[in-house]
Amino acid sequence: MASEVLTDLLEAARMAPSWGNLQCWELVVVRAAEDKKTLAGLLSKKNPATKCMEMAPVVIGVCGNPLKSGYYNGQQVTRYQHWFLYDLGLISQNICLKAFELGLGSVIVGSFDHNAAEELLRIPAGLELVSLIPIGYPDHAPSAPSRRALGDFVHYDRFTESGT
Ligand SMILES: Cc1cc2nc3c(=O)[nH]c(=O)nc-3n(C[C@H](O)[C@H](O)[C@H](O)COP(=O)(O)O)c2cc1C
Repeated sequence: MASEVLTDLLEAARMAPSWGNLQCWELVVVRAAEDKKTLAGLLSKKNPATKCMEMAPVVIGVCGNPLKSGYYNGQQVTRYQHWFLYDLGLISQNICLKAFELGLGSVIVGSFDHNAAEELLRIPAGLELVSLIPIGYPDHAPSAPSRRALGDFVHYDRFTESGT
C-alpha cells in the first residue's frame, strides 16, 4: 500500500471524536507478512476474516487505555465502565469509511486471542488491543449483509414496540 494512502487512512483516524477529546487510542500498523500470518492464526476458529488478515497489505491494531474515557481523577463518572470501547469503535469506523472512500476493503475483527496478539505486538501493560482491521484491495465487491428496516428500530418521541 502506498504510504500516501496509509497516511490518508491514519489522518482520517486522527479526527475521530472521543470522550473529552482524550483520544485514548494507540494504533499499531502491522506490515510484515510473517506478523500478519501469525495474527491470522490467532483468530477464532473459522473466523471469516482469517484469509484477509494474512493477505491484506496492512493490518491496523486498535488499542486503548481503558481508564481514560469516562473517568475523572481515576473515578468512573457514569454508569458505564468501558467508554474506551466506544472511542475505539469511532476511530475504527473513521478508518473503515476512509478505506471505502479510497476503494479499499476493510473489516473490523474482534474475535481472536487477545493476549497472544498483545504479546506479538508488544502492547504495553495498561493498554488493551481490542480489534484488528485488515485493509487491502478487494478482489470482488461483496454486497452488504441485510440490515434491520428503520421502522424496526427507530422510535419517534417515545419508545414504542412497533417502532413507529
Ligand atoms: C466489534 C466488531 C467485531 C467484529 N469482529 C469480526 C470478526 O471477528 N470476524 C469477521 O469476519 N467480522 C467481524 N466483524 C465484522 C461484522 O461481521 C460486519 O461488520 C457485519 O457483518 C456487517 O457487514 P459489513 O460491515 O460488510 O456491512 C466485526 C464487526 C464489529 C463491529
